[in-house]
Formats: sequence, C-alpha cells, structure tokens
Amino acid sequence: MFFRQIDNNIKLSLSIPQYAEELFKLTDKNRGFLQQWLPWLDRTKEPLDTQQFLELQLLRFQQGSALHVTIFYQDRIAGVVGYNQIDRVNQIGHLGYWLGEEYNGKGIMTKSAKELIELGFDYYELNRVEIRCAVANNRSRALSERLGFNNEGIIRQAEKLCDRYVDHVVYGLLRSDRD
Ligand SMILES: CC(C)(COP(=O)(O)OP(=O)(O)OC[C@H]1O[C@@H](n2cnc3c(N)ncnc32)[C@H](O)[C@@H]1OP(=O)(O)O)[C@@H](O)C(=O)NCCC(=O)NCCS
Repeated sequence: MFFRQIDNNIKLSLSIPQYAEELFKLTDKNRGFLQQWLPWLDRTKEPLDTQQFLELQLLRFQQGSALHVTIFYQDRIAGVVGYNQIDRVNQIGHLGYWLGEEYNGKGIMTKSAKELIELGFDYYELNRVEIRCAVANNRSRALSERLGFNNEGIIRQAEKLCDRYVDHVVYGLLRSDRD
C-alpha cells in the first residue's frame, strides 16, 4: 500500500477494507474508552462491520465526499483521522479522529491531523475545516486548540451519546487563518 510518512514512527494510509481485521481489534479493545465520545460502537460488533464501513468510505472517497485515513504507529494501526464529510459546495471539511487509548499522549494525532488539514486546504481546496466535539471531551478540545482552531461557540444537545444529549463546541480553521 502507499503510505505518507509523517516521522520515524507515524505513517498514514488511505483506509482500505484489508485493514478491517486489525482496525476492528483495536476498536474492540478500546470499546469502553471510545464509547465515551463516539456514537457508533454499538454498531461495530464484528470485523465485518468495520470492513463494510471501510468499503463505504472508499466509495465516498471516490465520490470526493469523504476521506478516511488509517494511522500507523511503529507499523501497527493506532487510530484513524479524516474528513467525515467534504462539503464541496461550501468548501468545508468536517474533521474526525480517534486513537486507541494506549496511543494517547504521544502527539500522534496532532501530527496526523496537521497533515490532513494541509491536504484539505491544498488538495481539496477547502476554505474551512471544522471540528465538533462534546464540551466535556477535554482531549479533543485540547487537540483542536493545539492545532490553532478557533472556538466558535456551543451547539446545545447536538449529539446523543450513551443515552444522554451532549452539547458540542464548534471549532473552525479558515484558509485565511493560516496567513
Ligand atoms: C481525541 C484524541 C484523538 C486526542 O488524543 P491525544 O493523544 O490527546 O492527542 P495527540 O496524539 O495529539 O497527543 C497530545 C499529547 O501528547 C503530548 N505530546 C508528546 N509529543 C507531542 C508532540 N510532538 N506534539 C504534540 N503533542 C505531543 C502532548 O503534550 C499531549 O499530552 P497531554 O494530553 O498529556 O498534554 C484521543 O483522546 C481520542 O481518541 N479520544 C477518544 C475519541 C474521541 O474523543 N474522538 C474525537 C471525537 S470529537
């Protein structure tokens, strides 16, 4: 497969269905950790669920409406990052990401997301990259701020997580913010 090397330890690859087994294992191992902030764990019960998800993401990549990327740390899958949605009309990319708990605290996502943001502005000609995360998701908020995003406000009860509604903070980075 073709990789984009970020540093000695981290490389990125377009997600392909062949990654499903290893990615599912990481998901399953981190179910409790991820479930706090991500809504789809209950729909990911076996490797086939991950495989079908990755197949769909490839189709959406081909259509130009999404980009799903797998992060490798020391040649093992550590998590994912990508544009869950690319709005070509308004030139907005909606960035999403997660890491296995054991891969937190190493700067992996800061470096990987930076690469995706550059790709978004340069290749997809985005005008805006947006991150939305639960108000209490301190790690995701710290990441957004570390990446230079602006806190643009709160959307109330924007997501249902573990049977409770959570407010979202909207973070935005404009092409012109980089100048
Ligand atoms: C959100 C999430 C990806 C953040 O992961 P993270 O490890 O905190 O972020 P990074 O990989 O950028 O690492 C930053 C940490 O590494 C440290 N670090 C070490 N080297 C670093 C470097 N070169 N550059 C940046 N940070 C570095 C930072 O100090 C920071 O540590 P701290 O939190 O103890 O201050 C992760 O917590 C996660 O997957 N959470 C669950 C899923 C989720 O919430 N997804 C987002 C939904 S909106």
